[in-house]
Amino acid sequence: DRQIFVTRHGQSTDNVEDRIGGDASLTPLGKKFARALEKFISEQRKSFAMDLTKSKYEQEKKWEAYGLDPLDLSDTMAGQTANDIIHTKAKAISASQFTVWTSMLKRSTESANDFSTDDYDIKHIRYLNEINSGERERMTYDEIKQQYPDEFKARQENKLTYRYPGMGGESYIDVIHRLQPLIIELERMTQSCLIITHRVALRIILGYLLDWSREEMPHMLVPLHTVYELRPKPYGSQLKKWKYVE
Ligand code: F6P
Repeated sequence: DRQIFVTRHGQSTDNVEDRIGGDASLTPLGKKFARALEKFISEQRKSFAMDLTKSKYEQEKKWEAYGLDPLDLSDTMAGQTANDIIHTKAKAISASQFTVWTSMLKRSTESANDFSTDDYDIKHIRYLNEINSGERERMTYDEIKQQYPDEFKARQENKLTYRYPGMGGESYIDVIHRLQPLIIELERMTQSCLIITHRVALRIILGYLLDWSREEMPHMLVPLHTVYELRPKPYGSQLKKWKYVE
């Protein structure tokens, strides 16, 4: 059992001006979200470990009713109460590896600034960068609509395959391809993790884990300052959602 948290970065100065792409830093509000995110994840990590340990302990107790004793007490001291055992084991679980992945862009790495490297295994990964909007980087949607109305329309009509013009410009399909190895790694790994990424990458990761169709995925509403938690289950992922309020 593990937790997968996915969120967009905290609010950036470009978000305030409605500019796409770029490499802007966080606003004061974005930094507040980053601080809240660290506290939230640390609490979630503890309560998850506690729930897991309790349910394991209760399962093991059931066997005792049949005269069997599968409870592994080798790492605990004689004379401890059930509660002590649960606490000791929960501590060990919550101290086990927890990965934080960010993109290489400032608004994403800055959103992980409050996570200590003693408690988290932090990695900055280029694959998680936001869609590259080529020659339209740092423009607003209004500017694009006014200056390049045909392009604006073409993207609205087919967001999935529309590729931004200019060097490095990408489409959703391009981003899906570059994210593929990461999604495979995400499915393979056993430790819990937090991914701090961007609107397009988040839509693709959530879309993959929640089985959204490729056609609906580019249109899903994924606001800033919202944390999604997924628990992978044999029949699909369970989803919970939290909204940060100041
Ligand atoms: O505005 C934030 C942002 O992440 C941009 O950098 C990016 O181009 C855009 O969202 C992607 O959203 P959409 O595909 O809906 O235009």
